[in-house]
Amino acid sequence: MQKFIIKSNLKDIACFAKMIPVRAAKFRTAPSTPLPTSYAVNETAKLLHPRVQKLRVKSIEEISQDVKSYVLEAAEKKAPAYFRAGQYISLKLKIGDSVLTRPYSIASPPADALKGTYTITVKRVSDGFASGYILDNFTVGTEVTASAPEGTFYYEPLRDAPAVVCLAGGSGITPFLSLAGAVADGTEDCELIIIYGCRTENDILHKDKLDTLSAKCPKIKVVYVLSDSCAEGCEQGFITAELIKKYAPAVYSVFVCGPAAMYAFEKEELKKLNLPEKYIRFETQSGEAPATGETKTFECSVYARDIKKRVIPCRNDESILTALERAGIEAQSMCRGGECGFCRSKLISGEVFVPEENDGRRIADLKFGYIHPCRTYPQGNIEIRI
Ligand code: FES
Repeated sequence: MQKFIIKSNLKDIACFAKMIPVRAAKFRTAPSTPLPTSYAVNETAKLLHPRVQKLRVKSIEEISQDVKSYVLEAAEKKAPAYFRAGQYISLKLKIGDSVLTRPYSIASPPADALKGTYTITVKRVSDGFASGYILDNFTVGTEVTASAPEGTFYYEPLRDAPAVVCLAGGSGITPFLSLAGAVADGTEDCELIIIYGCRTENDILHKDKLDTLSAKCPKIKVVYVLSDSCAEGCEQGFITAELIKKYAPAVYSVFVCGPAAMYAFEKEELKKLNLPEKYIRFETQSGEAPATGETKTFECSVYARDIKKRVIPCRNDESILTALERAGIEAQSMCRGGECGFCRSKLISGEVFVPEENDGRRIADLKFGYIHPCRTYPQGNIEIRI
C-alpha cells in the first residue's frame, strides 16, 4: 500500500513537470491585449445575488381591511434579482429610531421578476411593529431597500418527491401561490396539492388567483379547510393526517407554511404519516418565541465596531435582535428565524435560551459561543459583540 502511494505521487510530479514547458510556451505566445475588466459569469452572479436591491411600490391591491398586496419594481436601472418560487425578500425599514428588517415571501411567480416585479402580501399582525407600519405608510412610489431573494423553501426535484402537498395557514399561502404560478407557467415541474386552512371563508387570501391557477393547470389542486365555519366545496376542521391522506398521491413531499400554532399541530399529524424526513419541509418562522413564565427585563451590554459599549434593556420574551432594534442599534438580519446566520454574533457572557427548533447554528458556532440574536432570548444580564 505504501509503495503504491509513493508511485502515485511520483507520477503526479512527472505530470506537473511536463506541464511547465507547455505553460511557458503558452505565456510566450499569448497576445499582449489587456484582460477583460469584467467576466460574464461574475456579472450574472451579481445580478442574481445583489447585496441589496432598491425597490419601489408600483401598485397596491387592497385584499381586505388588514391585508394588502404590494407590487414592487426596481427603483434603479437594474431589474429585480431572479428567485426560486418559495423564497423571500427581507425589507429594511426605518421606523422612528429603529432600523429593522422583515422577511416577506414573494407571492408572484419567478417569471414576474424577469418582467421587473415582485409581489408581497402584508397582513396586519396584532401588536406587530412592521406590518402596521407598512400597511399604514406604504403608498405607490414608496421606496424601500430589500435583500436579494433568500431562503431554501423551494421545490428541488433532486430532493423532493414529484408531488408536493402544500399545507398553508393564513398568510402562509404566499410561497405556495408563487409555486403554483411557477408550475402553471412551466418554470417548475411537479404536481401540487395545496391544502389551505383558514378560520372562515372570508379569511382565505388570494382565492381568485388560486382558483384561476388550478382551473388553468391540471397539475394544481386547491383544497380549502375552514376551522370555524362551513362553506360549500370546503373541508371543515383542521388539516389532519386523515385529510392529507385523502388528497395526497402515493408518493409526496409535504411543505408547511403558516403560524406557529399550526406548526405544532402539523408536526404531530405528520408523524402519523411516516414520511421520509427529507420529504417534510417547514418554512422558517420569523415571529417571536411564545412567552413562558414571568416576563423579566435584563441588561444587555452591546459591543460593535462603532459601539464601544452600550447597555440596553432586553426582555426574556423578546429576541435579542428585537431589543437591539428597539434601542436603535442597526444589527444585521435577514430571515429572523435562526436559519440564515446573517445576524451571527458573539455571546461574551451570560445565559441565553435558544429554542431547539430555531437553532440553526453551525457546530463550530455552538462550540465557540456564537448566537443568532434573532432567535436567542436572555435568561439574565448578557454581553454580546455584534
Ligand atoms: S437573521 Fe437569519 S439567523 Fe438571524
